[in-house]
Parts: sequence; structure tokens; C-alpha cells
Amino acid sequence: MRVSLLALSMLAVAAPAVAQDDDPDARAAATIDQMEPAERTILTHGIMALPLGEDFALPEDGVLGAGYVPGISRLDVPSLRETDASLGVAWAGGARKDRATALPSAVAMGATWNPELMRRAGEMIGGEAHAKGFNVLLAGGINLMRDPRNGRTFEYFSEDPLLSGVLGGAAVTGIQSQHVISTLKHFALNAQETGRHFMSANISDAPARESDLLAFQIAIERGDPGSIMCAYNRVNQDYSCGSDYLLNQVLKTDWGYRGWVMSDWGAVHKLADAIHGLDQQSGEQLDERVFFGDMLGSKAASDPVYARRLTDMNHRILRSMYAVGVDRFPAEKAKIDWEANAAVARETAQQGIVLLRNVKDALPLSATARTIAVIGGYADTGVLSGGGSSQVLGEGPAVSISMGGSGPFAGFMSQSYQKSVPLNAIRERAPDAEIRFRNGRYITDAVEAARRSDVAIIFATQWMAEGLDVPDLSLPNGQDDLIAAVAAANPNTIVVLENGGPIVMPWLDQTAAVLASWYPGGEGADAIASILFGEVNPSGHLPVTFPANVGQLPRPVLPGSDMIETNFLGKGEEGQTLDVDYDIEGSDVGYRWFARQKEAPLFPFGFGLSYTSFSHNDIKLADDGLSATVRLTNSGKRAGADVAQIYLISGPWGSSRRLLGFERVELGAGESKSVEVSFDPRLLAQWQDGAWVRPAGKYRIALGKSAIDFGPEATITLPAARWTGGQMK
Ligand code: BGC
Repeated sequence: MRVSLLALSMLAVAAPAVAQDDDPDARAAATIDQMEPAERTILTHGIMALPLGEDFALPEDGVLGAGYVPGISRLDVPSLRETDASLGVAWAGGARKDRATALPSAVAMGATWNPELMRRAGEMIGGEAHAKGFNVLLAGGINLMRDPRNGRTFEYFSEDPLLSGVLGGAAVTGIQSQHVISTLKHFALNAQETGRHFMSANISDAPARESDLLAFQIAIERGDPGSIMCAYNRVNQDYSCGSDYLLNQVLKTDWGYRGWVMSDWGAVHKLADAIHGLDQQSGEQLDERVFFGDMLGSKAASDPVYARRLTDMNHRILRSMYAVGVDRFPAEKAKIDWEANAAVARETAQQGIVLLRNVKDALPLSATARTIAVIGGYADTGVLSGGGSSQVLGEGPAVSISMGGSGPFAGFMSQSYQKSVPLNAIRERAPDAEIRFRNGRYITDAVEAARRSDVAIIFATQWMAEGLDVPDLSLPNGQDDLIAAVAAANPNTIVVLENGGPIVMPWLDQTAAVLASWYPGGEGADAIASILFGEVNPSGHLPVTFPANVGQLPRPVLPGSDMIETNFLGKGEEGQTLDVDYDIEGSDVGYRWFARQKEAPLFPFGFGLSYTSFSHNDIKLADDGLSATVRLTNSGKRAGADVAQIYLISGPWGSSRRLLGFERVELGAGESKSVEVSFDPRLLAQWQDGAWVRPAGKYRIALGKSAIDFGPEATITLPAARWTGGQMK
């Protein structure tokens, strides 16, 4: 550890003394030179900028939101004004009721497989944050979905390191283009909420590097985020925010990350976390004490190790501020183009909706259907959103149902619906139809309406929230029974899921069609209806495996679910632990686990139907084995988008499943295109003895429609190589 600390402090010292306008390191060093001793801990800690207690006073230049770190006006260093999160400017449990555009949940964004759209979505929410006075967006949730019961599944992109890394990096690029610093979070292995403040994610180095850490690494390379937020949980017993392995070794030394590590809110346990690589204590009211203020200052006055570390902490924070331009492009109240922003939210929702089943062309609905029963899911009121700090609810929810929370965080613990009404969106598109709404509380009533209608559309909801995992993957409140009964009464039953993540579907075979719309955001109703009526051709593909049952998961019983009361703040008893063994699946997360176990999922990763059909004709690998040219044809009668998904199916080490690269392609009816898809070379390698090593031998590679459905294949023999200086040599 001493070696890495020395290297870090040398980085800071090596910067030239004279600040050049555009060199963030030089500027950071020059600012630090001018700091008075008392100013040296101003940037290293901050508050939660929400009225948590009666004595709360918002600082003069503060903005109500997740966090505030004072600036140093004498040195023209602005304060950091932080808001959650990846889906837009969060409503902070009701503290903010000014308007904000809600993107669909991150899993919906994952289902777009569209990095360019993610960049635009990031640009949109970054722009909105800036126009509300924020210069930090606590976005970039890219934990892998190791356990689909994780209550924050909806906040993450996917179960795959490449897909998550590429999309996460693109979102960060978009956000930071607006001079708003983005985080990537929660570093790392924060795969369940049960016991989140003390559970230990136990995993060996190689599988961690090849999975969850690889997602962060790719996103950092592509997006260059100003900050990384460490997680609540422990990794191999050490708290993430005090993990020398994660912060000093992996992030700062091995990856050469130059920005700063901020803590999650209430995740700092001791002053020495600074030595282990933490640069800033956030939301300090939630910790036992303020470690990174006076306590850090006085320690640094007497201990040269802390003194050097404090310089490095300031350097990292300032360099990110200068690199992103938060001082030169100050975040101030400005006008927001709501219509343009809504269009981005709508397009994201549309591209993220996944058509999972469509029997006998039940969809798209014809505008001439005479009678439609719309059932359940508060479809007459709004669309569901996920609970917790990431929740964006504009001026407030259409309806909010308490899920048992109390105190200042009760707003987070309620099932809240966006003001975007599916029933209205359906009515607009079928003006001549007789449309009957039933709330679905009574099966008899819903069945009766379905029986008398040409089509029945059931809206089914799976609410998820930060701080709370789901115990299993069923639809709660008897919705599985409701769907089965309605489908038995009407063969044209269409299920629209508003789901946080995977669910099981005991009724699947009885239905005509199923759409996963996730939490579709502020324009969700319109997006759903545009797909139902065929204005938009569905193109979403699952970013996560839907298991047939929880028995197929690496841990059939959710660890800790039998012993722990979880909530936002539940830090557990003194010394409480919960060990979770992630070496069971190792780097074989999601579809890779299913392939290894030879288990058939309900729906595989990468799966998604369309109203047209695509054929996959060709695959040709480049001589270096680092890209493939594939030919895709739209063999149907409508324009649509396909995703070229390239998978490794075996390597010299044996059978394998890895997404190597992907490309979303728009194709007109009858059109063919050849596209070149490049691979991340690390996915053809293994982490061995501190390096990415590609063994010599045969690699079998296929173009897939999903992680289990392969078309054309090719095999290539590659020489041994190592990843050095960003290249395989
Ligand atoms: C969450 C973070 C969030 C922070 C600030 C925490 O509870 O884990 O994702 O950014 O609160 O609201």
C-alpha cells in the first residue's frame, strides 16, 4: 500500500507550477499551492442537502438535492451541488417538486443496446441538472445484475460487463458534455440491498476483474467520469469505501484513474478510509461523525502520510472540476426545453421496450378493434416508477401508495406512479373503440370485462426500490392469478409489464403477447401505446436473463432474506455481518451462469422480438480476431432495428459464453447491411497473475439473436497475447 500511496502523491507533485489554462492537473496544483491550511479540508467532505432534521439550513449557494460540498470562493472554486441520479434530476423524496424529465429506468436503457441514444439521454439529464443549478449528477449506476432480486436492478444497465460498460460510458460522456460531473456507482459488487450496509461480497480477484470490475473499467475508459462513488457493502470483508484493494490497487493504480472517489451517503467508517483511497466523505450527517473535516485536518498537520494524501484528495477533486469545466461554465438556473427533453425520454422508452411474446400477430393492435378491456396496474392513473434516491417524479406522483416507510425517508418507500396515463394513450389511438377499464382488484370483475372484449390488455406491476430486495420473482398482489384468469377468458390477452427486472411468468403460454416496458418514465404511457399500435416497431433486447424459476439462480434463496430487516438506513447491529459467496458463479454472471449450468431460462439475455423479421447471413472474422463483419437482412415488411450480438461460444479453455461486441442496426423493409462489430479484446482473455492474458488456441465465435440462439459461426486460431498499454500484443 505504501508504494501505491507514494506513486499517487508523486502524481500530484509532478504537475507544473504554472497553471496552463486547459491543463486540469496544472490548474489543480496551482490552486492547492494557494490553499491556506484551514482550506485544505473544505472540499473533502459535504452534507446531504435535504431537510433531514429541524436544524437543517440550506447553504446560501446550495440547491436542494442529494449533496453539497462548499467551494472556496477566494480561489474561485465553486461549491459542488449534487443531485441524483441516472434517470434525471431526482425529486428527493418530495423535497423537489419542480418539473424534471424522467427517463425510463436504467434496465430499460440497457434494453436499447444503443450507446448513441445513451449519450443523448445523458446530455439531456445533464443539461437539466445544470439548468437547475447542479454541477454533479450522481448517475452512472452500473453494478452488474448478479441477483435479479436486487431492489436496485432497475437502476442498473445489465448483467453483462461489456453492455453495461459501453452504455454507462456513453451516458457519462453525455452528462459531462453539459459541464456536469458524473459519477459511476456503486463501486463495487453492490449486488443486493438486503444487509447492504454490512454484507460482504466475497469474490476472488480474477472473477471480480472479469465481471463487475470490467464494467467499471470499460465505462471509465469511455466516459472518463469525474468521480466514482464507492458502495455501502463490504468486498472481501473490507468496506468498499475503505478498501485498499478496490480504491488504491484496482482503480487508481491498475487503471490509472485520475478523478476522485466520493463515498456513498453514510458509507464512511473511519478516518483511515482516506489512506485506503477514499477522497471525499459525502452526506456526512448519515455517518457516525465527520471524519474528513477537522479530524483529517489535524491528522494531516502531524502525519506526513495523511498530509500527502490530503494534497492528492484535493488534487483529484479539483482536477475533475477543471476537466469538466464546472468553474468556467457555472451551473445556474436556465430555461429548459421540456418538449425536446420529453422526446428523448420517449425515444429511450420506445427503444427499451422488449416484445417477449407475440402469437398469431396479436400485436400490433389494429386501430379498428371495437372493444378493448384495459385492466390493472393503475393504468388509468400513471406508470410505475422505482423507489429510492434515483426516483424522478417531476412535480410529484400521480398517485403514491405507502409501502410502510416512515420518517424523512418515507417518500422513498412508496409505490409512486408517473403522470403518464396508459388508458388515455390507448384511447387516443383507438378513438372509436369501446374501452373498459377495470382496476384488477377483483378477478371476477376483470374476467367479465375481458370476456366481453375483443382484446384484453393487462398492466402488471413489479415494484422495486432501493433499500429493499424482492423476495422472489413473482408478480405481487395476486397479479399472476389475475393474468391467468383473464387469459383463460380471452385468448387475445396482452400483458404489459411495468417491471423493475426479471419476473417469472406461470401464465405465459396462455397469453397472446407480452411486452416488458420496465419503468418507462415520464413519457411511458405514450411509448407503450406507440408500440401496442405499431407506430413504433419494438427493438428492445433483454439486458438480463429471465430465469424460469429462482431455483436456477446461483443462490436460490436470497442471502440474508431470512434474518434481516432492511431499510434505507438499517446499518445493522454492531459487528453484524452477512457473507455472500460470489465465487459460486464467479465471472459467470447471468447468461454465462445459465450456459455453464446448462439451464434453459424463461427468456435469454439478448432476446427481443419485432414486428418484422431479421435474418443473419454471414460472419467474417478479422485476421487479428478483434472484429467481425456480419450481414443482417430485414426479411419482413416493416422497417425495424436489429442488434448484431457477437458471442464467444468456446475458447482454448473450453465452452464459454461471452458477449464480445454488439451494434444496433436500423434496416428498412427488405434491406440488408454489412456491419463491422469490434470486440473488447479483454473478453477473449482471462485475468491471470495481474494481467489480461489471451491463451493461444481456437476461438469459436457466433452471431446470435440472443445468448442461446446462434446463427452463422466462425472459428479462428489466435496466438497467445497480453493486454499491454491498451492493446493486445
Ligand atoms: C444511494 C446513492 C445515492 C445517494 C445520495 C444513497 O442512498 O445509494 O445511489 O446517490 O444515496 O442520494
